Amino acid sequence: MSGRQYNLLDKMIIGFDQGLGTLVGQFAVRASGRQNPAEAVPNGVLSDAERRLSAGLMRVNHAGEVSAQALYQGQGLIARDPRIRQSMQQSAEQEIDHLNWCQTRIEELGGHTSILNPLWFAGSFTIGTFAGLLGDKWSLGFIAETEQQVVKHLRGHLQRLPTGDLKSRAIIAQMQEDEGHHATVALEAGARLLPESVKRVMQLCSKLMTTTAYWL
Ligand SMILES: [Fe+2]
Ligand SMILES: [Fe+2]
Repeated sequence: MSGRQYNLLDKMIIGFDQGLGTLVGQFAVRASGRQNPAEAVPNGVLSDAERRLSAGLMRVNHAGEVSAQALYQGQGLIARDPRIRQSMQQSAEQEIDHLNWCQTRIEELGGHTSILNPLWFAGSFTIGTFAGLLGDKWSLGFIAETEQQVVKHLRGHLQRLPTGDLKSRAIIAQMQEDEGHHATVALEAGARLLPESVKRVMQLCSKLMTTTAYWL
């Protein structure tokens, strides 16, 4: 992106192209290359009910990572300051790791990803782009708040996941650590703190998404 100037339409087309890559799984090249934390962990013994529960929770987390892709792509395409764009790059790459790890785990559990992923992507991309248009500091504030909410959400999943599902737990624990770091990076890059009313609306949207994605 550094060699030429892109207008808004160019950026939307690039975002659409990257979105398609996210939805069809063509994202391995842009991942950070870290090892899947579940690889070093033995397979636990799970009942059918536990397996279904884990697959549902991991589907929710995969849908969240699809949204994270959209959010970072929207923010990255609109960001005015190239230094801010660069500082978000590592976080964005780690989100691709998360997407890959969740997808692999869902397949191992015999589950499927959310059929509403295109909707989650489109919604988050629109929000990310809109936040970007408000200016870098607000857009970073939106990312920081999202990441902080995700940390809390993942803490809840660690309590709900079957104790024997060591692989999913290893993935979620690493994601939780990464998301906390992403929030710090966004705050250090100059994020503005969002008003409480906006935070509450974000919590409601996230609740709607996580509840729906568990079933669909
Ligand atoms: Fe993530
Ligand atoms: Fe994150």
